[in-house]
Amino acid sequence: MGEMLKGKSAVVTGAGRGIGKGVALALAAEGAKVVVNDVGVPLGGDEQSSTPAEEVVAEIKAAGGEAIASMDSVADWDSAEKIINTCVDNFGGIDILVNVAGILRDRMLKNISKEEWEAVIQVNLNGTFYPIRHACNHMINKGNGRIINLTSRAALGISAGNSNYVAAKGGITSFTQAIALELGRKGVTCNVVFPAGWTRMTSSIPEDRIRVMCAQRGLTTKKEAEELPIDELGRKAFGDPGDPGALVAFLASDAAADINGQLFFAGMRQISRYVYPKPEFPERIIFTEHDCWTASEVARLFPNTIGKGLINPSPKKEKK
Ligand SMILES: NC(=O)c1ccc[n+]([C@@H]2O[C@H](COP(=O)([O-])OP(=O)(O)OC[C@H]3O[C@@H](n4cnc5c(N)ncnc54)[C@H](O)[C@@H]3O)[C@@H](O)[C@H]2O)c1
Repeated sequence: MGEMLKGKSAVVTGAGRGIGKGVALALAAEGAKVVVNDVGVPLGGDEQSSTPAEEVVAEIKAAGGEAIASMDSVADWDSAEKIINTCVDNFGGIDILVNVAGILRDRMLKNISKEEWEAVIQVNLNGTFYPIRHACNHMINKGNGRIINLTSRAALGISAGNSNYVAAKGGITSFTQAIALELGRKGVTCNVVFPAGWTRMTSSIPEDRIRVMCAQRGLTTKKEAEELPIDELGRKAFGDPGDPGALVAFLASDAAADINGQLFFAGMRQISRYVYPKPEFPERIIFTEHDCWTASEVARLFPNTIGKGLINPSPKKEKK
């Protein structure tokens, strides 16, 4: 067992399986006492089973670590408070909060229902805010804390057919920037990690898309992409779900005391850092010589200045 997080108490939400499980194991392997939180729901968020969190606790204990299961939902204000209190009451405080819990209800915008929109916002976005709100004063009072929010590169405009999920993950990404400014000066850091891993969430992606992805990215030959079992291809395309845990454990440690408000990707054996757009650094800029712009002036100048080289990510397809 490592000692990077010895003496620290942590909550990991959505830690019963997939990437959250990998995070909980990584924190425990570095000596943290971990609340393994998971309601144990299917991908769409319905029904409940307590087993995944308890199984991860058993695995941590078998490896010599300390952990306790929590089956409370992140998506409810009072129940999120219970998750944080489980850590404070059993481990004497909370030093680390990693928000991983998430669900999908993928639909094209024209088909999505109000309920499908709200369920995804409730678990992913509100389910990140509630635990943070309940944990932050413990961290502020201590003058030390680490908050790591797992979102998704889907929030960076690469994905269609899941606007509810993209809105939630984009919301978490911007929310993290705001609270990094508020809490950094109190000794509490807040960072975003976009993870990747072959989990039940990624295995819900249609098989043919994964086969095409493997061939296009050169992860396999075209023949292998057509013939290999989907689990083998999925692991090639998304990597081991335990992989992002190492970066999270590092960000949770004292060594990362000055890393705040940053965006990272972790998975597929790589770690990368992204730059969040800053208002001081627009990509291009034009000014008017008058007091105010007129629409005709914008139309005249736009194409050869800020409009130059723009690419429509989804150009209109003519009906056949
Ligand atoms: N797997 C990837 O490649 C990938 C990519 C980008 C983002 N993510 C994000 O990483 C996180 C983990 O993804 P995963 O692939 O491991 O998914 P997963 O479905 O395997 O795990 C998510 C866990 O969250 C739990 N959960 C759901 N609702 C909850 C609630 N209300 N309270 C507590 N727990 C709840 C589920 O029971 C489940 O165990 C998600 O937020 C996901 O959006 C994953």
